[in-house]
Amino acid sequence: MRFDVFTLFPGMFVGVFDDSILQRARDAGLIEIHTHNLRDFTYDKHHVCDDTPYGGGGGMVMKPEPIFEAIEKVLGDDPAQRPPLVLTTPQGRVFDTDMAREFAQQPRLAILCGHYEGIDERVRTLVTAEVSIGDYVLTGGEIPAMVLVDAIARFIPGVVGDPGAPHQDSHATGLLEHPHYTRPLEFRAMRVPDILLSGHHANIERWRRNESLRRTLKRRPDLLRQVALSEADKNFLRELGWVESPISNV
Ligand SMILES: C[S@@+](CC[C@H](N)C(=O)[O-])C[C@H]1O[C@@H](n2cnc3c(N)ncnc32)[C@H](O)[C@@H]1O
Repeated sequence: MRFDVFTLFPGMFVGVFDDSILQRARDAGLIEIHTHNLRDFTYDKHHVCDDTPYGGGGGMVMKPEPIFEAIEKVLGDDPAQRPPLVLTTPQGRVFDTDMAREFAQQPRLAILCGHYEGIDERVRTLVTAEVSIGDYVLTGGEIPAMVLVDAIARFIPGVVGDPGAPHQDSHATGLLEHPHYTRPLEFRAMRVPDILLSGHHANIERWRRNESLRRTLKRRPDLLRQVALSEADKNFLRELGWVESPISNV
């Protein structure tokens, strides 16, 4: 999958995309990440990309011309032939696992990073989706773009060493994931639960499912309304004091 990121600050991506799992995925040819500096698509001496807002007020607004120029040069003149273009904005749909999975089906995705007060409104005519990473405001869209690339890349086969992991992790199943343990068996008087040493696969799976339900009930009970629960799940949750909501989303 190819990512094209349009930004005023390409330097912010150095390191993040050049280390660990994303770097390995790039080396293996599973993902390509191209950052494009919007200043390279200006024609004035000072490469100006922002200006004061019409109507007055503080802050600067990103000018439309370099953005249109960059998108048309890199993604093509014909909007119908372009890959999806995501605008990072706190006004967008809040990013989640389903969106990451959907975007991971695309061969190519472009991401536009706002900065300052944001972009000139006319840029929105170029955009196919507006995505927020949460209900707070950051200084720029670069960190949101990194979040998107990382979360989407995990759903591309081969990027994560254990191919099952992205589909079993928290949120992918609709629940929070069960606890994990590794060696040593005992650490500072804390012992690994015996069930994990039993070698009994079915019992271990049931324990993991129950711990996942326990965690979700304690930390994110709202998620239980959106997940398909078996009778065994419901019985376990009832033992923990869960009362089934009359309003279920599944
Ligand atoms: C300071 S913000 C502008 C906020 C804008 N004035 C508003 O109130 O909607 C600058 C840029 O950061 C990015 N940004 C900030 N918070 C974000 C969030 N929660 N999700 C995605 N992008 C965000 C966007 O690209 C935005 O254009």
